[in-house]
Amino acid sequence: MKELQQQFEHELLDCQTVDDIEAVRLKYLGRKGAVQEQMRLLKDLKAEERADFGARINTLKAYIEEKIEQFLKQTLDRQRSEQIAKEHIDVTLPGRSSWKGSYHPVAVTMQSIVRIFKDLGFSVQIGPQVESDYYNFEVLNFAEDHPAKDMQDTFYIEPGVLLRTHTSNAQGRVMERTSPPIRIISPGKCFRNEEVSARSHVFFHQIEGLCVDETASFQDLAWTLTEFVQKYLQREDAKIRFRPSYFPFVEPGAEVDCSCLVCSGKGCQLCKYTGWLELGGTGMVHPQVLRNVGIDPEKYQGYAWGFGIERMVMLRHTIKDIRLFSENDMRFLRQFPAI
Ligand code: DAH
Repeated sequence: MKELQQQFEHELLDCQTVDDIEAVRLKYLGRKGAVQEQMRLLKDLKAEERADFGARINTLKAYIEEKIEQFLKQTLDRQRSEQIAKEHIDVTLPGRSSWKGSYHPVAVTMQSIVRIFKDLGFSVQIGPQVESDYYNFEVLNFAEDHPAKDMQDTFYIEPGVLLRTHTSNAQGRVMERTSPPIRIISPGKCFRNEEVSARSHVFFHQIEGLCVDETASFQDLAWTLTEFVQKYLQREDAKIRFRPSYFPFVEPGAEVDCSCLVCSGKGCQLCKYTGWLELGGTGMVHPQVLRNVGIDPEKYQGYAWGFGIERMVMLRHTIKDIRLFSENDMRFLRQFPAI
């Protein structure tokens, strides 16, 4: 019985889990267990030996029961503290900040420009990016062999179908289906077959504006664009200036500049000491364009403009390379706050 007790102690100490302990319990205290086996020996003993032997079996049984209970409790306690240690949460650790996406800087600028023109009574009309030669060039008075067409070389999908070179393609489409008064803006993507460099790209954005009614004048144009730059630059003293230029769909045509947002016209590095920043092209809608879309140029006149968006973002944030806008480099994009 001494041997039995030692063997039991040995096996119990080897137990790792509750299941191990249960197996030991069955082995010693089960119906076919070691203790019962000893009990069975009783009947073969002489009467005077039986009492003593029986008492020893009972002591052993009680001992085993107690040890098992103790060991079970210890094991459960240990398992519980291991689990608690594993699941421990350090509530004092700093939180992980969530990652917030944001609008592309071109989209942000576009939205703020659209907002300003909407407030001035212009509505948004979107033209197609895959366009016919007709709406991109012909209706806008580009002669088939005019050198102005050279400056807007583009990608052809098939003969007569191309990726638009400017948002001016919206002009003909809108004028064809709407009768004056017309007051629209048309933002969107444009494409040109250009050498990609820090200053020019095959892919960029413009916003077009068009106003046609009986009295639209160059003066209205000047007022509208002045109002726009003052709101866009958030400076009441912002000015614009026109420089004569040529676009086949306007007469007279001009390039329009706004006073430099950094130096207000005094001259600085941003404006290359001219005091002015270039916005884009503008002018009075050419009578031939009106005729092409069935609007009587004797009765109606119009003004239009087209600004490059990347240019405006580059000016606002002093970005030196236009390629950054389409490279999707997160180091660049993350610098623009989520709005
Ligand atoms: N579409 C011209 C370009 O991309 C810019 C332009 C010039 C638009 C004069 C106009 C305009 O609406 O009147 O170079």
